[in-house]
Amino acid sequence: MAYPAAQHEPSYPREAHITGPSNHHPASSLLLFGATGDLTKRKLLPSLFALHEDGLIAPDLRIVGTARSELTDKEFCQIAREALHEYLPDDRKASDKITSFLEHLQYQTLDASTVEGFDDLATKLGDISGGLSIFLSTAPFLFEPTIRGLKSAGLTGDHIRIGLEKPLGDNLASSAVINDAVASAFSEQQIFRIDHYLGKETVQNLMALRFANMMFEPLWNANGIDHVQITVSETVGLEGRHGFYDDTGALRDMVQNHMLQLLAITAMEAPADFDATSVRDEKVKVLRSLRPVGASEMVRGQYGSGAVDGKSVDGYFDDLGEPSGTETFVGIKAHIDNWRWQGVPFYLRTGKRMAERRSEIVIQFKCVPHNIFGDRGGKLNANRLVIRLQPEEYVRLMVMAKKPSMDRDGVTLREVPLDLSLTQAFSRARRRIAYERLLLDLIDGDPTLFVRRDEVEAQWRWIDAIREVWETQEVEPKPYSSGSWGPSAAIALTERDGVSWNE
Ligand code: BG6
Repeated sequence: MAYPAAQHEPSYPREAHITGPSNHHPASSLLLFGATGDLTKRKLLPSLFALHEDGLIAPDLRIVGTARSELTDKEFCQIAREALHEYLPDDRKASDKITSFLEHLQYQTLDASTVEGFDDLATKLGDISGGLSIFLSTAPFLFEPTIRGLKSAGLTGDHIRIGLEKPLGDNLASSAVINDAVASAFSEQQIFRIDHYLGKETVQNLMALRFANMMFEPLWNANGIDHVQITVSETVGLEGRHGFYDDTGALRDMVQNHMLQLLAITAMEAPADFDATSVRDEKVKVLRSLRPVGASEMVRGQYGSGAVDGKSVDGYFDDLGEPSGTETFVGIKAHIDNWRWQGVPFYLRTGKRMAERRSEIVIQFKCVPHNIFGDRGGKLNANRLVIRLQPEEYVRLMVMAKKPSMDRDGVTLREVPLDLSLTQAFSRARRRIAYERLLLDLIDGDPTLFVRRDEVEAQWRWIDAIREVWETQEVEPKPYSSGSWGPSAAIALTERDGVSWNE
C-alpha cells in the first residue's frame, strides 16, 4: 500500500531522548580492511560520507583504508570518489562536501596474510593514542593472520576496538577459531561483531515498540499470541557472489544471523536498561532456548527459472553454471522452549528470487474467548500486528470493526488497519543505511547494537544441528519458480497448522 506524502510532520511533544553512555569515547582514527572491496564501495564509503555530511564524525577523523592493491592515497581517493558517484542517491552525488570528505582518507597497501607490512601500516597510522577503531571485512581465512599482524605491530590495546563483518566462520567450530584468534588480542568489550540488520532503524524500532509502550507487553506471550511469522524475502539472485553464496546457502547467509537476531528481539524479555550488557543478556537467553528442529519442520528450496518484476530470469543452476545442492530458500517452524513462548510457533522464511522484497514480522494474536456477535452473523478474525521493516516502514494493527449499517440483517464485522507509517510520522528524518549507525557506534565505542560471542555461538549451535539433520536425512532443496513465495512445501509447513503466510 502506498502512503501519500505527509504535508506536515506531526510534532511529538513527549519525545524521550536516549543519550549514549558517557564512558564511550570517539576514536580519532578508523582503519578499514578490505578497502577496495565491494562492501566498502557500496556501503561503508557512502555511510562514512553521510556521517561527514551531517557533521557526526570529527573533522579530523583519519580514515585509513588498506587492501592488497598497490595504491597511493590519491588513487584510493579517486576510487572512493567513483564509488560515491556510483552508490550515493542522485540528489547527493553533487554534494559540495565530497571533496572535504575525501580529505579524511588515506591508504596503505597491505598483504594481510603475512605479518610483514603491518609495521608500515602502524607507521602510516602514526599516533593512535586518541583511539583507533578497526573495521575488518575480509575473507574468513584472513582473520587469523590479520590479528597476528595487528599484534606484531602493536596495533592492539585498550584504546583500540575492532569491528568484525560476517562471515565469521561457517559453523560453531570455525567461528570459535576466529573468535579465539580475535580474543587473543582484544577483550570482548573491544570486539564489535556486525549484523547489519541491527543497524536498521526499523529493527531498533521493534525494541521501542515493545518496550516503550504499555499496551503490547501484557499480551506478548503464549496467552495472547497464537504464532509469529518472520519473512525476509528478496527478489535478487546471486548478484555475482557465486562462489561465496554457493558455499554458504540461505541458512547460513540469512537465518544464522539476521533472522535469528529478529527472532531474539521479538521474543526477548524486557532488558533492565538499553545498554549492551542488558540487551545482549536477554537476547542470548532466547537463542539458547531454541528447540532443535526436526526434518518435518523445515523446508529447503532452490529457485528455478521464472519471472521477477515482470522480467524472465534463469534458475539457480543456470546462474551458477553448474548443478548444486545449495539452498536459496529456507522455511522453518521454530520453537522457543521457555515459559513465555511455550506452544507458540515462530515460522521463519527467507529466500532469493521471491515474489517481493520484504522484511516483516507478523504477530498473530489469539481470538477473543467468545464471539458475542456470533448469533447475529458477525464473524471475527483474531488481531494481527504487522511490523514491516523494509522496503516500507510501518506498524499495522489489524482490528475488527463493525461495518456501518442498521444491522437489520445481522452484524457485519470487518478487519480494518490501525496504521502507523514511520516514513510519514518521521518524514523529515533521512532514511539512513544500516552501516551509518554501525560505523558511528564503532567509532564512538557503543557495543549495544553489535553481537556478543555467546549470541553468535548459540546461533551456530542451532544452525549446525539443522545442517546435521539435512545431512543425515539427506534433505535436498525443493525447486520453486523465481517470482514465487518459495516451494509448495513452505506453504504446507504453516497450512497444516491452519496458518497462512501473510502475503
Ligand atoms: C546479507 C546477505 O547479509 O544480507 C545477502 O549476505 C543479502 O545475501 C543481504 O542480500 C540482505 O540485506 P538487506 O539489508 O538488503 O535486507
